[in-house]
Amino acid sequence: MKANLIFYKHQKELPIQLQNRSVCEFGEIFQDYDEHVDSIYVCYAQSDELQGEREWEKLGNICYTFVEKNHITHVEIDENNCEKINMPVFLEGFYKADYHFDRYLSSKDRKEVSLKLPKPFENISINAQKAAAAVHVARDICNEPANKLYPTRFADYLTQLFDLTDVEVEIIQSKDLKEKEFYAIETVGKGSEYAPCVAILTLKNSGEDPVALIGKGITFDSGGVNVKTGSAIAEMKMDLGGAAAVIGAMKLLADRNTACHVKAILPMAVNVSGANAYLPSDVIQYRDGTTVEVGNTDAEGRLVIADAILYAQQLGIDRMIDIATLTGNVGQALGLKTAAIYSNDIKLSTKLYKYGQKSGDSVWPMPLEKDYKRYLNSEVADISNMSNHPFAGSITAALFIEHFVKEGTKWIHIDMANTTKIFPSTKLEASGFGTKLLYELIVQREELWDD
Ligand code: BES
Ligand code: MG
Ligand code: ZN
Repeated sequence: MKANLIFYKHQKELPIQLQNRSVCEFGEIFQDYDEHVDSIYVCYAQSDELQGEREWEKLGNICYTFVEKNHITHVEIDENNCEKINMPVFLEGFYKADYHFDRYLSSKDRKEVSLKLPKPFENISINAQKAAAAVHVARDICNEPANKLYPTRFADYLTQLFDLTDVEVEIIQSKDLKEKEFYAIETVGKGSEYAPCVAILTLKNSGEDPVALIGKGITFDSGGVNVKTGSAIAEMKMDLGGAAAVIGAMKLLADRNTACHVKAILPMAVNVSGANAYLPSDVIQYRDGTTVEVGNTDAEGRLVIADAILYAQQLGIDRMIDIATLTGNVGQALGLKTAAIYSNDIKLSTKLYKYGQKSGDSVWPMPLEKDYKRYLNSEVADISNMSNHPFAGSITAALFIEHFVKEGTKWIHIDMANTTKIFPSTKLEASGFGTKLLYELIVQREELWDD
């Protein structure tokens, strides 16, 4: 079925027979059959008071959802009022909503929706589709079950995904992890039949010094020997949300031919218990000599992120962003919509809020409260991976990672454990959080890192 999509602001912009409608508010949408064409009217009123440009994404989402529900397969946007709409963001919302994780369903009952735009918007549309495709990649990675996406498969998938792009993919296989001094990743991955590995993606389209993007890629986190309990454990197939965000961002940077130099480091492992699994009380010695007591095998994320940070610094990289589904505790602090952001440079962390607003991936700065570092004291090693205090779990995790950040390194850390799932859905559905944010942080890198 075909329909025209018409934006209106006031009742008087509707055809005369529809002007008696009593509601006329942002997002109101309805269908009308008029002069032999189906028309969908969507209200963009109050756009002046919109809280931010991401409201336009919501409008796009509303339109797609309506179209799909009403089995409309061909939509043509009417040029009237188009100039009043923030089309790049609207279209991103529309295309993003066109997502279904149905590859394991025997019968899929979905139809393609095509969207036709007035000529001047065609390029904008291609750009929006690229953003949506990148977010969908991140969502796919999180939605994949752990028996389908484990480290070596994940690595193969990346090789395929970036084939024919400017992104180079290098995989450090399990057998080489020790030789390359990725001691923590090797340790965390020991309990599983599925071997761990590290993926390194390089996009070098400019002569600048590289920025590192580090993403936690735990393809399943059972907690290991400190096993998790309860039904929510299935969610831990999404413990690679950080890696997914980095991959999405790399894809978008590549697809939009962004001139930049980015190195992504993705530690991948399955954190499960088993005969060879690492144990509470184990001591890990890192490449720089730092020793860590494993206070809890479920605090595995910080262990592998530290490995990647040391590696990036060894490569001489001095600007880095890590993103990880690190602590359940971050949700206690910020709820399920906003991720926590930390930096060893306070000016940086306060700057980041606006990029969150711009990208639609909401973040809020949190303090690296030095006085809490004592909670990570260990009697047998330099530091413990487990806090001995019940509060501030996201902060102590960030402090643990900061322990590995050398002077002179500019570092941003994002704890996104609470935002991997779509807000406010209660289903186990991935959001693709972080893709747009990391993309934005790379695009705006000059302004971002400038002191
Ligand atoms: N992957 C989890 C964090 C997580 C929790 C992500 C809930 C998504 C939803 C992480 O590895 C973890 O287990 N963290 C522990 C840390 C604790 C043992 C110090 C946690 O948050 O309980
Ligand atoms: Mg864990
Ligand atoms: Zn985890």
